[in-house]
Amino acid sequence: MTLTVRTKIIVEKFEDGPIWTIGYLVHTGPGGEAIVIDVPMWSSEKIYKRTLEIGLLVKYIIATHGHWDHIGDMEKLKALTGAQVCAHQGDEWMMRDPNGMVIVPPESIEPVEIDIRLNCGGTVETSGTKLKVIETPGHSAGSICLFEEDERILFTGDTLFSGSIGRVDLPTGSMDAISKSVQEKLMTLPGDVKIYPGHGGDSTLEKEKLENPFVQMMFAAR
Ligand SMILES: [Fe+2]
Repeated sequence: MTLTVRTKIIVEKFEDGPIWTIGYLVHTGPGGEAIVIDVPMWSSEKIYKRTLEIGLLVKYIIATHGHWDHIGDMEKLKALTGAQVCAHQGDEWMMRDPNGMVIVPPESIEPVEIDIRLNCGGTVETSGTKLKVIETPGHSAGSICLFEEDERILFTGDTLFSGSIGRVDLPTGSMDAISKSVQEKLMTLPGDVKIYPGHGGDSTLEKEKLENPFVQMMFAAR
C-alpha cells in the first residue's frame, strides 16, 4: 500500500491597485513551487519580494480573466520570475490591448502574452498544487475559475463574490452565461468548498447558495 501525504496548501492574498483587486500566491511552504493567480496593478514587487523571502519558485501566473485590474502587473511579475502566463483564449484580445478597454486603466498597462492557453478540464500543476480549470463565461467570455479539489478551494475571479456576482455589462459579458456558469459549474461543487474571489472577502459555496441574493435570483429564474 502506498500512503501519500499531501502538504497543505497556503494561500496568501495581495490586495492592490485602484479598485482593490486580489492576487493570490499559492504554495505549500518555503522552498517549494508556487502559482500566482491574478496580479493587480502595483503588486508585482510585493509578490516577488515575498517569494524571495521564503524561497519560492513561481512556475505559473494565471489570469482568471483579462480585465486590466487583474493583469495590471502581470507582465512585470513574469519578467521578475520567469514564470509562464496561463489564461483562457477568450480574453486574449483584452490582455494584448489592456489600455484599449471600455474602462481605461488609470495608468498605462503592459500588454500580456499568454504562454499556455487554458481550457475546461485542463490543469495547472506544481509539485504540491493541482488547479483544475473550470470555464465560467459571463463576466467575460474568457473567465475561468480554478479548483483545488483535494483542498476544496476555488478561486472565482470576478465570477462569484461573497454576496455578489461579477458585472456583465462589459464587452463579452452575459447575464445568461454567468447564470449558467454559477448554477451549473460552481454550485454543483460541494457546499463546503471555500471560495477566494478577485475582490472582497472569502466565503463558501454553501453560504453563497443560501445568502447571495444574485445566486438566489438565478435559481428562482430557472
Ligand atoms: Fe473583471
